[in-house]
Amino acid sequence: GEISNQAQKERVAQQVSSFVEDGDVIGVGSGSTAFLALQAIAKRVTEESLKIQAIPTSKEAALNCAALNVPVTTLTAARPRWGFDGADEVDEQSRLIKGRGGALFAEKLVIASSAKTYILVDKSKFVKKLGSVFAVPIEVDPRAIHLVETKLSDYFDPQSITLRMAVSKDGPVITEAGNLLLDVRFSEIISTMEKEISAIPGVIESGLFFDYPIEILSV
Ligand code: A5P
Repeated sequence: GEISNQAQKERVAQQVSSFVEDGDVIGVGSGSTAFLALQAIAKRVTEESLKIQAIPTSKEAALNCAALNVPVTTLTAARPRWGFDGADEVDEQSRLIKGRGGALFAEKLVIASSAKTYILVDKSKFVKKLGSVFAVPIEVDPRAIHLVETKLSDYFDPQSITLRMAVSKDGPVITEAGNLLLDVRFSEIISTMEKEISAIPGVIESGLFFDYPIEILSV
């Protein structure tokens, strides 16, 4: 029979924990699936006295590492041998939308810096058409917010552009790097768009992840 999304997440988390080797530097993603993987890895680290270092992709991930006694380092000081992260959508060509959690900038830096990143997903993340469930998050320097909105409209004629608002405080979401997030719906997402969006002045990164050394892990 079908197993629940939660059980699927737990299975891929177990699977990825088996890849850890003593001495590893590992990129640690954000979100609920990456958290389960970190828990499974921390268990092995404790039980087998492994020496590893984590490179967290968000403050939440850093706090989780601290709570689970996993030592952390930074991308400035070290290079991850490999990493793991979740995703919001995965299409048939393994192209991703990420950034529901707002950590897309650091996630992209860590993924681009790793020789390999395992993307941990339950079946609900697979889509025929990228952008059918999620809007594309775009992190923008606050000074460029109007410029970026104008350029996005001129180049891509998006269905909607929404400034992401905070849920538990007033005003917009401010990212860890002090930027804003636009959630943009496109009628069609094509393969040149990640680079085209990045080329707009003031765009920090988008949640489109197209050409990175990833391997999708799902049950
Ligand atoms: C964080 O910015 C996102 O890219 C996450 O990787 C994504 O939202 C997956 O989270 P879940 O594992 O909780 O679905």
